[in-house]
Amino acid sequence: MTTHAEDTGEAEETFPYERACPFAPPAQYAQFEKEPVKQVPLPTGLKIWAVTGHENMRQLLTDPRTSASRREANFPFYFNAPPEFRTETSFIGYDGREHTTTRRKAAVTFTNRQVQRLRPRIEEIVDKAIDAMLEAGPGVDMHHALSLPVPMTVICLLLGIPYEDHEFFQVNGTTLLGGTATMEERQAALVDVNEYLFGLVAKKEQEPGDDLLSRAIAEYREAGEEYEARDLVNLCRLLMNGGHETTASMISLGTACLLEHPDQLAQLKADPELIVPAVEELVRYLTIGDAAVPRVAMDDIEVGGAVIPKGDGILCLGLTANRDPAVFENPDDLILSRGNRRHFGFGHGVHHCIGADLARLELQLVWSRLFERIPTLRLAKPFEEIPSKERAIIYGLWGLPVTWDV
Ligand code: HEM
Repeated sequence: MTTHAEDTGEAEETFPYERACPFAPPAQYAQFEKEPVKQVPLPTGLKIWAVTGHENMRQLLTDPRTSASRREANFPFYFNAPPEFRTETSFIGYDGREHTTTRRKAAVTFTNRQVQRLRPRIEEIVDKAIDAMLEAGPGVDMHHALSLPVPMTVICLLLGIPYEDHEFFQVNGTTLLGGTATMEERQAALVDVNEYLFGLVAKKEQEPGDDLLSRAIAEYREAGEEYEARDLVNLCRLLMNGGHETTASMISLGTACLLEHPDQLAQLKADPELIVPAVEELVRYLTIGDAAVPRVAMDDIEVGGAVIPKGDGILCLGLTANRDPAVFENPDDLILSRGNRRHFGFGHGVHHCIGADLARLELQLVWSRLFERIPTLRLAKPFEEIPSKERAIIYGLWGLPVTWDV
């Protein structure tokens, strides 16, 4: 665990904290019970405001006096971000009109109606990954055999990226979001991914296909709007990063969680319709994006008994909202049939996850097909021995060794 030397000379623990158990909030979250909105230091030395609890987080994320702009001096980066990490963003880092107009370019692809149309394609992708697992096993690392390739194949399909380039994006995506890469490695990954995507944009301008990127280009042209290739590159990179590491982490951590809660898993196996509330509950319970909802106060903002001064950085800790007993009864229990969708596992407010319905469908299909086709699936080593991504922006596991009976 890293520490930060305070002006007082005392060492203070930096955020994000380790989860001693991947299914429980870090023990340090107990400090927020007394002080739900509180300053904590990041590894860079910057002090930011942790906003915790369901009501405080709801209030903050619907307050128009907050900004998601990476250009703000006190934006909560976990590393000393070089200039390109502040400027090369897309709508996740935009506010107001710029956010709405750019988000709209992608939104049509991610409506629930459009997503449901993909069901047969995604089912095929999931089944192929399970076929490959069955052929290679028993005894495989499911994270690499299924969790990473399934969302990667889906997002490449949506963006019109050829299948043979998956590996390239998988490796670079982990470098950008995995939490262990050096700054030089992150910068190199950003350069490589951008170079590839500039080439892709140029290709789609010449030979449009049936994909999000080609549709965005056509929209600009039909409206007679000027656009820069860089904007489309940034949009694609956001969707690649947003749609890959997150869903992959949910698949692996969620599978481990189900296997470690055999009574709940038995209910799911007995009643396949339980899969819809089960996905919702696992997204709530695990909140892999707990460290991934950053903002900056654009005015003095009063929330949870504190005043966040104008210009200060903020992190909204979704795990605290999602374990808030005022909203979720017995919040620390995994109850697949809970049926409470008021969680913030996909964020809240204008930046609510654009890919939430796509992620839901991928998770539903993965767990339905996985436990139907491999009913004896189990961990190949004790859960405590599987390393987790402690300092990552998106929480998860580094691998998932599984086995089954033949
Ligand atoms: C936003 C979580 C899957 C693309 C967010 C946010 C969270 C989140 C917490 C809010 C960030 C903020 O407020 O600053 C997740 C989780 C996923 C998932 C847990 C999987 C289980 C996806 C998928 C895609 C995607 C599949 C796309 C293919 C995005 C984008 C945003 C976003 C583009 C920014 C939205 C905006 O700023 O308007 N996600 N996400 N995510 N997510 Fe996801």
